Amino acid sequence: MKLYNKDKLAEARESFLKSVPEWDKPVEWAAVMGSGLSDVFDDFKIIGSFPFENVARMPHSAVAGHRGEFMIAEYEGKRVLAQLGRSHLYEGWTPFEVAFSVALFGELGIKNLLLTNAAGGVLDTLEVGDVMVIYDQINLQSGSPLSGAPGSEKFQDMTEAYDKRLAVGLSKKFGLTQGVYAALRGPHYETPAEIRYLRTIGADAVGMSTVMEAIMGRFYGMRIAGMSLITNKASGLGGKKLDHSEVIEAGKIGRRKIAEGMKYLMGE
Ligand code: HPA
Repeated sequence: MKLYNKDKLAEARESFLKSVPEWDKPVEWAAVMGSGLSDVFDDFKIIGSFPFENVARMPHSAVAGHRGEFMIAEYEGKRVLAQLGRSHLYEGWTPFEVAFSVALFGELGIKNLLLTNAAGGVLDTLEVGDVMVIYDQINLQSGSPLSGAPGSEKFQDMTEAYDKRLAVGLSKKFGLTQGVYAALRGPHYETPAEIRYLRTIGADAVGMSTVMEAIMGRFYGMRIAGMSLITNKASGLGGKKLDHSEVIEAGKIGRRKIAEGMKYLMGE
């Protein structure tokens, strides 16, 4: 167990293990599923599921499109622990709290982490329903989930936040664009001027999640893959205003692609 917030994590781990129907086989992957992405496990055998409330200290969220449960699923003999829904900074959670579940995955010994999200496309070629493979990130949310960690462990290297081999593999296998994901706090969407700024600094997609989780995942030495489902063209680029219910609808279109990506990753 890492020395960081170990009492809270020990409590979470214990209550988590009590809720799990079977923890008899290793779980190779954890996967955090964002808005509208809860249903990608149709081809998986569901071992069991339980709500976030069962896990001590686990923040839970009430945003539409986020279910708030953990699910263990199996595909071709390999297991994934899926987190359906996540908490966000814009709800008032701290960076540590939004990355809490990833710390729990680390404490459970899970070595691979898939982070998914819904995002606005900043890169011109990204269309609604496309999936962008995240090869790097820009944290514009301010703060870090590691700011309270003791000693020099907190100075986490982020040179290869997302595993290059996994990113290239996903991109080649499915013909997906690789790009940089930038996260703002939200919950309001961006202005067109902010999108021009994001483009200038090298962002290809924009959202309000994921970056704190990736920092925590690297802290635990996890191999991270990231996929952004493009639910809209970013502000000022699509010729219309942004609407949360459209983001949820678009999520339904692209989730097959995320499902195929998840299945591919299970074999890697
Ligand atoms: N901006 C920020 N977050 C988002 C967007 C967006 O355009 N679309 C989905 N999540």
